Amino acid sequence: MKSLVYLICWLTLYLWPVKSAAPTGCTYSTDTGSRGLYTCDFTVMTLPATYSTFTSPIPQRLKIRNINGNLPVSSPTKTFNGFGSYATGSHDKDFTSYLELRCSSGNPSGQALISLGTFSQMSYLEELYIKDCRLTNGLPEFVFSDLQNLHILVIEGGSIAATAADSMANFNISISSTLSESSGILNFTNVAITGGTFTTGFFYPLTTVNTIILENNGLTSLELSTFSQNTQLRRLIIRDNPITVIPNNLFSGLDALEYVELNDLSLTCSCDNVWFVKHFVDHNITLGEGAVCSLSTNVKNAQKYYYENCVTYDICDGVPGIKIQGRCTQWYKIVFVFLLILAIILTIVTLVLLIHTRKKLMSQHDKLRAKQTEKWSKIQQILNTQTVSKQRPPAATLPPKGV
Ligand SMILES: *[C@@H]1O[C@H](CO)[C@@H](O)[C@H](O)[C@H]1NC(C)=O
Ligand SMILES: *[C@@H]1O[C@H](CO)[C@@H](O)[C@H](O)[C@H]1NC(C)=O
Ligand SMILES: *[C@@H]1O[C@H](CO)[C@@H](O)[C@H](O)[C@H]1NC(C)=O
Repeated sequence: MKSLVYLICWLTLYLWPVKSAAPTGCTYSTDTGSRGLYTCDFTVMTLPATYSTFTSPIPQRLKIRNINGNLPVSSPTKTFNGFGSYATGSHDKDFTSYLELRCSSGNPSGQALISLGTFSQMSYLEELYIKDCRLTNGLPEFVFSDLQNLHILVIEGGSIAATAADSMANFNISISSTLSESSGILNFTNVAITGGTFTTGFFYPLTTVNTIILENNGLTSLELSTFSQNTQLRRLIIRDNPITVIPNNLFSGLDALEYVELNDLSLTCSCDNVWFVKHFVDHNITLGEGAVCSLSTNVKNAQKYYYENCVTYDICDGVPGIKIQGRCTQWYKIVFVFLLILAIILTIVTLVLLIHTRKKLMSQHDKLRAKQTEKWSKIQQILNTQTVSKQRPPAATLPPKGV
C-alpha cells in the first residue's frame, strides 16, 4: 500500500509538470533536457504543423525528420501555421529556439523544396539547421526573410542546386545580445554548391555575420567581391574545396577579420597566388593551420613558399638610395661623397690657379726688375763718362728700393 502511494506520488511529480500534447507524427521527449524537444516524422505528420497543437511546453525546439518533398507555402497548405503566436514568455532561457529539418537518408538523400514563405511567422527562431537535404530548387530569393535574424544557420550535407543574389535578402545572421554564448555563424559544411561557386551578391545582405564556414562544398572559385559586404566578419573558414586561386584583395575592407583558415584547397603556388600571406601579416590576421598550396611536383606550405620565393627585402630600409651588389648606399651618403669630390676639385683648381697667377706675377716682376736694372746701369754709364762735370754717380750700383 505504501509503495503504491509512492508510485502514485512519483508518477504525479514526473508527469504532472509536462502534460505535453503533440500533433500526429510528432513526439515529445525530455531526454534532451528539462524543456524537451519535439521530433516529427515528415512521412507521418500532416501539414501544416500548427503551433497550437504543440502544448506544454511550447515547441521551442523542433526537429522534423525524414523529409523528402515540398515544404509548401500555401498550396496545398502551409508548412508551418500559427507560429506568430510563439509565447516568448514561456521561452526557456536555458535553451535556444531552433528548428532542424533533416531529409531522409539514402542515396540519394531526400530532397527539400523551401521557398519564401516556408518559414512563415517564425521570427522567434534563433537557430536553423538543414541537414542532408538536396535543396533542389536551391535557396530562392528572400527564402529566410520571415526569420529576420538568426545567430546560427547551418546547412550540412546534401546540396544546394542554386543560389541567388537575394537568397539572403531581408535576413541577418548576427551575434545575439540575449544569448551568453553566441557567435553569428553561417555554416555550410559538406553541402555541395552546384556550379562550384556562389551567385554574385549571395553573401552581401549578411552585413552583421561574424563567422562564415565553407567546408567541402565543391567550390572551384570565389569572386573577388564575395565577402565585400560582410564588414563585421571576424572568422572565415574555407576548407576542403578545390579552389585554385584566392582572388587578390578578397579580404580588403574586412576590418574586423581576425582569423582565416584556407585548408585543403587546391591553390597553385605562385607569388601572385600567395599574396594573402603578406596581407595577413600587415593586417594582424591569424592564418589558422596554415594554407597549403600545391605545385605540380610537390606540395609546399603557402607561407613557406612565400618567404622563400616572393619576399624582396628592402636593404635600404625604406630610405631612397642605390642598391649595388646587396649593399645599400643611401641618398645622403651619395650627396656627401659628391660634395667631397666637388670640394677636392675646387681645392685643386684654386691651388692651380694660385700657383699659376703667382708664377705669372713673379715673371712680370722679374722682367720689370731687369728693365729697371738695365736702365739704371745705363744712367750710371752716362754719368761715369761725363768727366767734365765731375759729378759722382750715386754710391749704390742698384736702383733705389721701391722703384
Ligand atoms: C540587418 O542588419 C542591418 C544592420 O544592423 C539592419 O540595418 C537591417 O535592418 C537588418 N535586417 C533585418 C531584416 O533585420
Ligand atoms: C559547422 O557545422 C558542422 C556540421 O554541423 C559542425 O561539425 C561544426 O562544428 C560547425 N562549426 C561551427 C564553428 O559551429
Ligand atoms: C593582433 O591581434 C591580436 C588578437 O587577434 C590582438 O591581441 C593584438 O592586440 C593585435 N595586435 C595589433 C597590433 O593590432
